[in-house]
Amino acid sequence: MKYPEKVYLNGNIVPFEDAKISVFDRGFIFGDGIYEVMVQIEGVFFYKKAHLDRLQEGLNKINITFDTSSLLIDIEKLLGVTKLTGKDCLLYIQITRGVAPRQHSYPLDIVPTVMMYAVPKVLPKINAVNAKVITREDFRWSRCDIKMTSLLGNVMLNEEAVQHQCFETILHRDGFFTEASHCNVFFIKDGIVLTHPANKLILDGITRQVVFELCKSLDIEIQETPVSINDVSEIDEAFLTGTSTQIASIQQIDDHILYKENNIGPVTQKLQEAFLKIKSIN
Ligand SMILES: Cc1ncc(COP(=O)(O)O)c(C=O)c1O
Repeated sequence: MKYPEKVYLNGNIVPFEDAKISVFDRGFIFGDGIYEVMVQIEGVFFYKKAHLDRLQEGLNKINITFDTSSLLIDIEKLLGVTKLTGKDCLLYIQITRGVAPRQHSYPLDIVPTVMMYAVPKVLPKINAVNAKVITREDFRWSRCDIKMTSLLGNVMLNEEAVQHQCFETILHRDGFFTEASHCNVFFIKDGIVLTHPANKLILDGITRQVVFELCKSLDIEIQETPVSINDVSEIDEAFLTGTSTQIASIQQIDDHILYKENNIGPVTQKLQEAFLKIKSIN
């Protein structure tokens, strides 16, 4: 992984070494901020409006006053300066509450800190990963619907996957699967796609929402029903979704092997192919 050469910070686009924030920025002190990640594919940001709307909703949920539509011009400027206009790339946006003497409650009248960067990123047409995943207790807080920068729980749980040479850690709370450390998770049983309801215990992924649209258009039944950890051996297929992950098949959950060879189940495959088609029209 490399640093981006230039970053956007509060209206300026500067070499990343020169982008400095106060040690009293609440993003640094408390992780008091919201972030978003989206990808540009063939010159168009994939579900840009949905990503910017989710960013706005996150800011609203934690009372940071900022209008995300003001970012549109600056995103274009950033892409221009970094020579990524029209190129496949990943855009990261982070907005923190801003700088103030340390106190827990929200300080009044402070200006949010806005940071963005874009880096070249060419996603595979179809994600060929057939993921091995481990399962762990979801010990994060109970507002996982907020895409906040304080990701320590996700970071710790993702590190466990890496330590086990796995792609992801899928999480369970009270005996039911919620999501994964940086993806949503879906299971397929008897042709029906099952995933955790979009409540406060998961992030309602944009790719997750796309899967709902795809299932509708393909006449595949999809239900927001939590899956029990006791039912893993009954599952026919499973997959992960995320902006960079797209749709990635799961091959193995702990010791339970879904496919012996590098196979991908028929429903997952259908969704991956349909996803590929919408990528070229969005
Ligand atoms: C915890 C978590 N769940 C799900 C997702 C997938 O969201 P999206 O499809 O919008 O990238 C992410 C992405 O960052 C995530 O961090």
